[in-house]
Amino acid sequence: MTSSQMALAISETSFAGLKLRGRGKVRDIYDAGDDLLIVATDRLSAFDVVLPTPIPDKGKVLTQLSLFWFKKLHGIVPSHVLEAVNFTGELAPYARELAGRAMLVRRTEPIPIECVVRGYLSGSGWKDYKKTGSVCGIALPGGLIESSKLPEPIFTPSTKATSGHDENISFDEAASQIGTPLAERLRDVSIEIYRRASEYAAERGIIIADTKFEFGIANGELIWIDEALTPDSSRFWPADEYKPGHAQPSFDKQYVRDYLEQIGWNKQAPGPALPPDVVAATRVRYREAYERITGHALD
Ligand SMILES: Nc1ncnc2c1ncn2[C@@H]1O[C@H](COP(=O)(O)OP(=O)(O)OP(=O)(O)O)[C@@H](O)[C@H]1O
Ligand SMILES: [Mg+2]
Repeated sequence: MTSSQMALAISETSFAGLKLRGRGKVRDIYDAGDDLLIVATDRLSAFDVVLPTPIPDKGKVLTQLSLFWFKKLHGIVPSHVLEAVNFTGELAPYARELAGRAMLVRRTEPIPIECVVRGYLSGSGWKDYKKTGSVCGIALPGGLIESSKLPEPIFTPSTKATSGHDENISFDEAASQIGTPLAERLRDVSIEIYRRASEYAAERGIIIADTKFEFGIANGELIWIDEALTPDSSRFWPADEYKPGHAQPSFDKQYVRDYLEQIGWNKQAPGPALPPDVVAATRVRYREAYERITGHALD
């Protein structure tokens, strides 16, 4: 085994002088004055359960890929990023541990809607279409098959469940929760980000089948928060292997999901530990997603 294969993975962070606000499935969030410090750990969740085995480098891939997209697409909507390289002041003592995996961000009021955009028919979208001929209430042409490209990207919001699985809702339900003007703005911004990112990814041989965004409000301004077009929030498919009619191979955690299906786990917490070969293969996939999209190696 080479030294890089033995890299350490980080399941949980703690910094003596910082106040932990909470842990998401993947990110640890700290107070940093008026701002927030978001640290992406190497935790991996599958079927909404955090598994006991972390994946080395995963947090760095998520943070670096998000920074890449936030910067590239900031003309569409500003992101929450304030600093991701120079951690100074009260963060300075932790600069080495934070390097690569943390972001100092603007604190926002998160909008309680997950903004999903789909350009292809997969996952819960495919299930919905098979049953109803539409996805989240949006009627689609007949005769589409699994992984078909849609005529136009569609906005299919879901509720941000505090526990359990997110639930798909119609545009009208989203509008009744947060108001029509804000729902329309979220839809237009989300679709524009998806279009621009997809065009870019296509040049690099990657299809972005679907993706999920989160937004927040700070001082009345709409801010793109959390993460941006990562393998955790998106389905990335290698374009050269694309063949509709079944599920596609992907850069995301499909490898882990396949393993979990194969061992017959009941998808209830606690999740099983992952064997070293599954960890290694998943790590390679995350790194590869970063390299294919940005054009350079991580580190
Ligand atoms: N700028 C921000 N202001 C306020 N909250 C934020 C900001 N950026 C991210 N968050 C919140 O921090 C948390 C990040 O944790 P994590 O990504 O692990 O989320 P999760 O909600 O558990 O999982 P998932 O992203 O899969 O829904 C999320 O609850 C997200 O809404
Ligand atoms: Mg999240």
